[in-house]
Amino acid sequence: MHKEEFVKMIEKELIHHISLESKNVHDPIIVHNIPTGWTCIGTGNYAAVFVHKSEHDFVVKVAAIDDQALKKEANVYRQLGDHQAYSRLIHQGPTYLVLKRLEGITLYDAVARGIRIPETVIQDINHALEYAIERDLNPYDVHGRNVMMKDGKGYVVDVSDFYKEGKDEKWNDLVKAYYKIYKKTLYKYPVPIPLKLLDFIRHSYRLYRRIKIM
Ligand SMILES: Nc1ncnc2c1ncn2[C@@H]1O[C@H](COP(=O)(O)OP(=O)(O)O)[C@@H](O)[C@H]1O
Ligand SMILES: [Mg+2]
Repeated sequence: MHKEEFVKMIEKELIHHISLESKNVHDPIIVHNIPTGWTCIGTGNYAAVFVHKSEHDFVVKVAAIDDQALKKEANVYRQLGDHQAYSRLIHQGPTYLVLKRLEGITLYDAVARGIRIPETVIQDINHALEYAIERDLNPYDVHGRNVMMKDGKGYVVDVSDFYKEGKDEKWNDLVKAYYKIYKKTLYKYPVPIPLKLLDFIRHSYRLYRRIKIM
């Protein structure tokens, strides 16, 4: 399918039908009324991501709340340029972006499903974040749902906050937890972890960080 054709289809079929609901700024948004042919492959705190059955290489990221943030994200991709560990901006629409699809699963899903995360994944992501810093970007909000893995390779799937200032410790904390806890436990004996427990850890982590900076 040509890009122009795909863009028309996105606006006619997808954007006009879906509705996105943000219940809580700290939790992923909820999607209603997905048209046939489209699948929601992921949600974040500000957007939902879709694929169409006839187009496997691209995803459509639709912003639920802030289309200013979408413009900033598009600019982050421009500043980032080409790198194997990142997606790429294909098209910028008014409330959505078309991005190159990354294969694989998020590290959050890997833990939830009991799939082992190899160390090479962590190393690839570390290199990708160093590359972003060389490009004058700030790797911000890098956590388990924003990084992916496939065949032992690591990818950064969400760069939407890389324009922000200030230090964000989430990725450093995740790396520490990987070597101090994960390598000694789940890495050796990968078992599925219930989503409820993962969400509990996610919420406790936020509380822990809040206490630590006070
Ligand atoms: N380019 C992509 N390729 C494949 N999956 C993606 C892509 N972008 C996003 N996703 C999926 O959608 C989810 C939400 O996207 P994300 O960019 O993190 O949204 P938000 O900015 O709201 O956090 C991700 O966790 C991931 O599972
Ligand atoms: Mg995200």
